[in-house]
Amino acid sequence: MDLVSEIKKKKEFKSLDDSFVNNALNKVVKENQLKLEKDSEEIIKKTRAFLREVYGAFVSKGFNKRDKLLSMIKSLDDIETHQKILKQHISTAERIPYYTQVYSSIFAITGQPKSVLDIAAGLNPVSYPFLKCRPKYYAYELSETDAEFLQKYFDKMKIDGKALHGDITLLSEMQKLPSADVCFLFKALDTLESVRWDVTKELFSNINCKWIVASFPMKSLGGRKIMPEKRLSWFLRIISQFEYTKITIGDELFFVIRKA
Ligand SMILES: C[S@@+](CC[C@H](N)C(=O)[O-])C[C@H]1O[C@@H](n2cnc3c(N)ncnc32)[C@H](O)[C@@H]1O
Repeated sequence: MDLVSEIKKKKEFKSLDDSFVNNALNKVVKENQLKLEKDSEEIIKKTRAFLREVYGAFVSKGFNKRDKLLSMIKSLDDIETHQKILKQHISTAERIPYYTQVYSSIFAITGQPKSVLDIAAGLNPVSYPFLKCRPKYYAYELSETDAEFLQKYFDKMKIDGKALHGDITLLSEMQKLPSADVCFLFKALDTLESVRWDVTKELFSNINCKWIVASFPMKSLGGRKIMPEKRLSWFLRIISQFEYTKITIGDELFFVIRKA
């Protein structure tokens, strides 16, 4: 049985690259000491659960509505339709009341960027009007379909933007990242660490940006409070060599890190 095709029979995973699904499957097999030949059902179940954790969990039920909403959007001033699109992904939905404050607080430290690199972007690039400046925007996402959507948004809004797709935990992908003034890693590192443990250090050394802004949720998806300081000791160790500022906005903790 072709396990990758079997896993991708679920609609929610259709847009993921076969190679990413295959790597996830191998990780599940290794970590659970399963056998490809005889444990196929368990492998499929566990791989789907893992993919849901890193990709599917953030997508709200109406995610497919986004294309329809994009066709309705008039301009960058059409904040109402922008917000309707941002509502289609849990991370951006939670940030809607705070976007203006998020970007003004970050840029008060970094200065207004001429270019932005948004890694594991989700739908965050659609918050472009809240930036209140017009940087070149590179967005990097896991699935091709999601990157295509972001490219359509950039093109329609006449934003100088490029959407890229792939698995950013792979060194070969990190090395292809464009340079920019500011890199956003919003609510990305917990997810990327679960795809490949200890990836943050390698990612930081391959990001060619003056500033890195990494954020973490202070609540779990279920709404439970999580203690960021204790949980993030691994991350604080990594950034201890850099100058950084911590900002809390809503239920999100941002680290604005001077990289160069
Ligand atoms: C919690 S969401 C955050 C989205 C966005 N940064 C935000 O805060 O609005 C995590 C995102 O990471 C993406 N992702 C997961 N694994 C990835 C990988 N290996 N490479 C690139 N993106 C990945 C998911 O598709 C998802 O959009």
